[in-house]
Amino acid sequence: MVESIHGLRGVGFGGDYNPEQWPDDVRLADLDLMREAGVTIVSLAIFGWASIEPREGSYDWSWLDDTMDRLHEAGIRVSLATATASPPPWLTRKHPEILPRTADGSVLSPGARQSYSVSSRIWRDYAVGLAVAVARRYADHPALTLWHVDNEIGCHVPHDFSDSAAAAFRRWLRARYGDIDSLNAAWGTAFWSQRYGDFEDVLPPRAAPSHSNPTQQLDFARYSSDELLSYYVELRDAIRPITPEIPITTNFMCTSATKWMDYRRWAAEVDIVANDHYTIAADAEREIELALSADLTRGVAGGRPWLLMEHSSGAVNWQPRNRAKGPGELMRNSLAHVARGADAVMFFQWRASQAGAEKFHSALVPHAGRDSQVFRDVVALGAAVGSLAPLTGSVVQARAALIWDYEAWWAVELDAHPSADVVYMDRMRALHAALWRRGITTDVVASTDDLDAYDLVLVPTLYLVSDEGAANIAAAAERGASVAITYFSGIVDPNDHVRLGGYPGAFRELLGVRVDEFFPLLDGETTMLDDGTTADLWSERVELAGAEAVRMFTDGAMAGRPAVTRRQVGSGAAWYVATRQDESGTAALVDALLAESGVAPVLDVPAGMEAVRRVGEQGSFVVVVNHTDEVVALDLNGSELITGSLVEPGFKVPAGGCAVVQEV
Ligand code: GAL
Repeated sequence: MVESIHGLRGVGFGGDYNPEQWPDDVRLADLDLMREAGVTIVSLAIFGWASIEPREGSYDWSWLDDTMDRLHEAGIRVSLATATASPPPWLTRKHPEILPRTADGSVLSPGARQSYSVSSRIWRDYAVGLAVAVARRYADHPALTLWHVDNEIGCHVPHDFSDSAAAAFRRWLRARYGDIDSLNAAWGTAFWSQRYGDFEDVLPPRAAPSHSNPTQQLDFARYSSDELLSYYVELRDAIRPITPEIPITTNFMCTSATKWMDYRRWAAEVDIVANDHYTIAADAEREIELALSADLTRGVAGGRPWLLMEHSSGAVNWQPRNRAKGPGELMRNSLAHVARGADAVMFFQWRASQAGAEKFHSALVPHAGRDSQVFRDVVALGAAVGSLAPLTGSVVQARAALIWDYEAWWAVELDAHPSADVVYMDRMRALHAALWRRGITTDVVASTDDLDAYDLVLVPTLYLVSDEGAANIAAAAERGASVAITYFSGIVDPNDHVRLGGYPGAFRELLGVRVDEFFPLLDGETTMLDDGTTADLWSERVELAGAEAVRMFTDGAMAGRPAVTRRQVGSGAAWYVATRQDESGTAALVDALLAESGVAPVLDVPAGMEAVRRVGEQGSFVVVVNHTDEVVALDLNGSELITGSLVEPGFKVPAGGCAVVQEV
């Protein structure tokens, strides 16, 4: 694995650069503006194929040669794309069989982007051919810093149901199960006459008269993530021998909305994790969702620094209502990513397009040009990012962990469950937000990750868990952590088979409870707990089997029965939450867990202020992001990197402002 990003110094600053959309005078002006903004790195040629090879076999490298040379002269590094993110029109006309299909058999036509099936051998051969051609041409170019393989692989087509995908799915199943009887056992095909006699009879879960086999659906999700990843790996392995020194990555979408790529498996295949994140304008707590995504990205990266490959200077173009960022929001968003481990602050895109589907998407240079608030904010941000070099390579410190398993997410949201309202991100976001509001930094890790560093482990809705994951979580409690698990966890094994003998099967013993029946609440129905808080969505009949009741239901079908329980385990504790608590109930739970575990914030900050510590070779850094309308005084000693000022106790961070303090 290549460990450092060739030639990039400090925290990277820049974005996607699409010069093929502009005449030469604009491209020349771009270089001056990039210098003014402090750009140090751009992602180039992501959608360049049709400009590089307008007709099969006829190449025009001139625009890319010029751009590479000019960027190098300007001292700007290049993250060069394989240019495969969208097939050119001649290719889809010649080979329509490379197009993907939806579950109901519809073909996804060319005319947008990503209109390819990663299972198509023809597509892969063409993509590898182009990637190799690009790599050979620029292998020795001094601006080349990083390879950007394809783009957001799986973004638009996480699942392909085409015939080539069906064949690839069968290959994947043969490798997983070896023989058809093992598949039958795993899929529970004694049910509904689904028993298979031959792998050749198996199909993807295409549109069907009723609920498709859940394990077939789950395996198709696993296969789809692996198949997309294998496409990345094939391109990576084609270019690696040409430029062995240059790191290779692709941009992930570790967000609370991107469900289908198991980025933990993907992270093992990239030289450095790169992530794209966009805030949702209508989300009143978008800065907390941003923090969750950044914490997840860091977890996926195994705690190591990562690159923020894309975010936006303002509005996007793909939400129902796209709104510019508020005053200071660009700086806060950027530094919140840095706080949580980003070593680059990059954007989609450098210059706002004049034509095409993304013409109303913000950029570093807006339609209004240099004389604009956006560009002034970008210049200020570039200067700030330019001052952060000392923290490059440092790692984030956290004592609280949130368990996030992609397979649990896929499985819990399958159809035909006790309640369609149980969604994975619900408790994930609620628990993370409760910690965020208390200034606690949270690592987002897998059930099977090493949990030794954590005094507090929160386990939201872990419906599917392996024996190993369940034992790992139990061991954390034994060892002294406070562990809290929410409803509909530990229900099934990795084949999506129910763990028998009472719910929550995998955690019954750890929690000291036994549940014989679920009582999901109806839409709009609420229930009361004995501390006066309310709950909704879920309840269940909990019997104590070693645990004590912390909160009881006081009304409804479960009146007089436990709603929240706690069991002393070894030198730690295991808590169970058998309903969806309201915000005050969740806050009380988290306060109790923090008091018990001794987990405290880095600094005493008011709700709405982030303070995250990164520690590295050049010392210890506290990044503070003030989302409140108040000036906040901090108890810190050191120097502030952005302004270069001395920091003493009482140091003031302006309302809506940020600071990066190198501690002494
Ligand atoms: C990303 C993509 C970019 C651009 C951006 C717009 O998903 O990688 O190419 O489309 O979204 O927000």
